[in-house]
Amino acid sequence: MRTQVCIIGGGPSGLLLAQLLHLSGIESVVVERHGRTHVLARIRAGVLEWGSVERLRAAGLGARMDREGFVHGGIHLAAQNRSFRIDLQARAGRPVMVYGQTEVTRDLYAARDAAGGTVIHGAEGVALHDLDGARPHVTYSLDGVGQRIDCDFVAGCDGFHGVARRSVPAGALRTFERVYPFGWLGVLSETPPVGDELIYAHHDRGFALCSMRNRRLSRYYIQVPLEARLEAWPDSAFWDELRRRIPTDAAERIETGPAIEKSIVALRSFVAEPMRWGRLFLVGDAAHIVPPTGAKGLNLAVSDVHYLHQALAAFYRDGEAGGIETYSATALRRVWKATRFSWWMTTTLHRFPEAGNFGQRIQESELDDLETSATAQTALAENYVGLPF
Ligand code: APR
Ligand code: PHB
Repeated sequence: MRTQVCIIGGGPSGLLLAQLLHLSGIESVVVERHGRTHVLARIRAGVLEWGSVERLRAAGLGARMDREGFVHGGIHLAAQNRSFRIDLQARAGRPVMVYGQTEVTRDLYAARDAAGGTVIHGAEGVALHDLDGARPHVTYSLDGVGQRIDCDFVAGCDGFHGVARRSVPAGALRTFERVYPFGWLGVLSETPPVGDELIYAHHDRGFALCSMRNRRLSRYYIQVPLEARLEAWPDSAFWDELRRRIPTDAAERIETGPAIEKSIVALRSFVAEPMRWGRLFLVGDAAHIVPPTGAKGLNLAVSDVHYLHQALAAFYRDGEAGGIETYSATALRRVWKATRFSWWMTTTLHRFPEAGNFGQRIQESELDDLETSATAQTALAENYVGLPF
């Protein structure tokens, strides 16, 4: 098979890139390891920056999001049983959209189908070849039969555990990493959200987050030790611990129910530089991972895709390669700002026993400053709603 851009990975990065390339008349093929059902079964993020909302709308993907998504003008931070609201609209001039990544991915697959796009599912042993040569190509097997796709460019949209980043010679890549000493235990329950907006709670017992997918589907998280195991967290234990960590009024009104999904994720910050090697571009989680505290993972995938689409469109339309040359530096500038913000939200809101009582007071003082300073609230709001692309 031959195509212009071979996209490895059928998650949000790969599917959005395929859609934007299609709208620019550029051919692509998406090669995905898993089946569509598997990809759509993943429960991931829930908050879209306004820039992501605008780009999804511009790509013809806004209809269901605008119907079923929820525009949130603020978030709540809580500490020591007191909570206060950060008015995102007032401080940063824009809101955010609460709309699950699963729904975004579902809309992206529908767009591929509508455009007659090619998404190859069940691709095994994907390998990238001649990335710095004249004939870049991708091989894989499908139902045990070897396949090959010749292309001009390869987009590594295959996530943190993918093959693309590992295809860059080790000497050509620099990685930066911070692994946090705890994880998040997340629960999805068919219960009404505890409030109209998200609550990020700092507590001596650990961080907690109250989020949602819609008026009948709530998403909650609590910080747990790295060694935590799901079997040690029956639903009742989860709800009890969550109620201990969120403000009393929220704890008294929360409606609990059976967890329809329960999982533990580790938290890390990770960036690989550069995000390009020869004809290969790294996009989204393939290039960087942020702790979910700042709700940046999906939104960074959108900005990487935005920059790469612009670069490839200029190349195929005008033969202009400037965007391709500057893709990595441009994408990384925004990646590092979101990485810093996600690191800051994580270090400010979580419990770090090893930081001792001094560290605890610093966190309390940071939150006190956030409650009382318009400047501090504006800095948080600008990053939370999303910095300009
Ligand atoms: N070959 C083919 N496909 C692969 C391979 C491989 N070797 N390895 C991984 N994949 C697929 C995965 O099955 C997945 O569907 O690549 C896709 C990568 O998707 P994501 O991991 O969702 O990454 P991305 O599309 O960049 O989206 C980032 O997803 O993980 C969340 O928090 C993250 O919200 C962020 C978003
Ligand atoms: C979610 O709804 O899953 C969610 C929301 C905000 C975050 C992280 C996760 O910061």
